[in-house]
Amino acid sequence: MQTRTLGDMQVGAIGLGLMTFDQSGSQPRQQLLDTVTAALDAGVTLFDTADAYGPGEEKGEGAQGENERLIASILDELGVRDRVLLATKGGHVRTEGGGWDTDSSADHLRAAVDASLGRLGVEQLALWQHHRPDPDVPYDEVIATLKEIADSGKVARVGLSNANPEQIRAAHAVLGESLVSVQNQFSPAFRSSRPEIDVCEELGLAFLPWSPLGGLGDAKALADKYPAFAEVADAHGVSAQQVALAWELAQSPVVIPIPGAKRPQSVTDSAAAADLELTAEELARLDG
Ligand SMILES: NC(=O)c1ccc[n+]([C@@H]2O[C@H](COP(=O)([O-])OP(=O)(O)OC[C@H]3O[C@@H](n4cnc5c(N)ncnc54)[C@H](OP(=O)(O)O)[C@@H]3O)[C@@H](O)[C@H]2O)c1
Repeated sequence: MQTRTLGDMQVGAIGLGLMTFDQSGSQPRQQLLDTVTAALDAGVTLFDTADAYGPGEEKGEGAQGENERLIASILDELGVRDRVLLATKGGHVRTEGGGWDTDSSADHLRAAVDASLGRLGVEQLALWQHHRPDPDVPYDEVIATLKEIADSGKVARVGLSNANPEQIRAAHAVLGESLVSVQNQFSPAFRSSRPEIDVCEELGLAFLPWSPLGGLGDAKALADKYPAFAEVADAHGVSAQQVALAWELAQSPVVIPIPGAKRPQSVTDSAAAADLELTAEELARLDG
């Protein structure tokens, strides 16, 4: 698989989103082990989790950290920690009843980093991302906390998520080379992040499209909803999902999509997008 730059690292151009990895429902652990193995076999090296990811629709705060614990245990069982750049996030909290809230107070973000270090069992987080702006905390204050966290040495690289161009520029001005990435929504269904992609390209930051296939509810129906993607897919004999990811990669050399998958077939298919070349004509059609 071709690689792309994330700060001082090279990672596979397609990553793996872990948000839906859990053992609570219909996913036997072996399936998750097989999915991680398939990802690594295909050249995927960037794995994305968050402290707020967990199965706990009904478990509220109890869900906090479950996904981190699960992926750490899976990587250890497979003995593949050193082959993966495991990215996590802080700044979201789970509430009773399956809800999500934000907390970007300095105390919470500091504690979130410490808790992720403990759950992942590492001395330094490879990439720690601020999950989402908190309406109750001015972004400049968040940036100051991120700078303190970067300077603490507890995180090797800092990322933003759900940030607008102004916030990205402000963070870059303070964090400098510690800031390596921005993770925002981008897909055939959600194309309004182009300004953020442009800023990332200008500043040399990686741009990680989240829900790059349209999210859990829509990913499987991509071909039905976007006929141009289905037609280009037919011409290449591949899936419309693979075309969507190849189209995203073609937006800019800084783009590294992180499609979610809990089945090996999904990640193997998505990873092949890194080697799918679309013509200028096809790209123009998909842009349309
Ligand atoms: N920063 C944020 O605020 C934020 C918000 C949302 C998500 N995220 C990140 O983005 C990642 C991905 O987002 P997402 O899971 O919401 O949406 P997504 O990647 O757009 O869609 C995931 C769905 O696509 C299916 N899929 C994956 N590859 C496929 C393929 N090649 N062909 C057919 N179906 C395929 C998966 O199926 P199977 O599961 O059955 O394999 C899953 O149902 C998350 O895991 C998380 O890391 C971040």
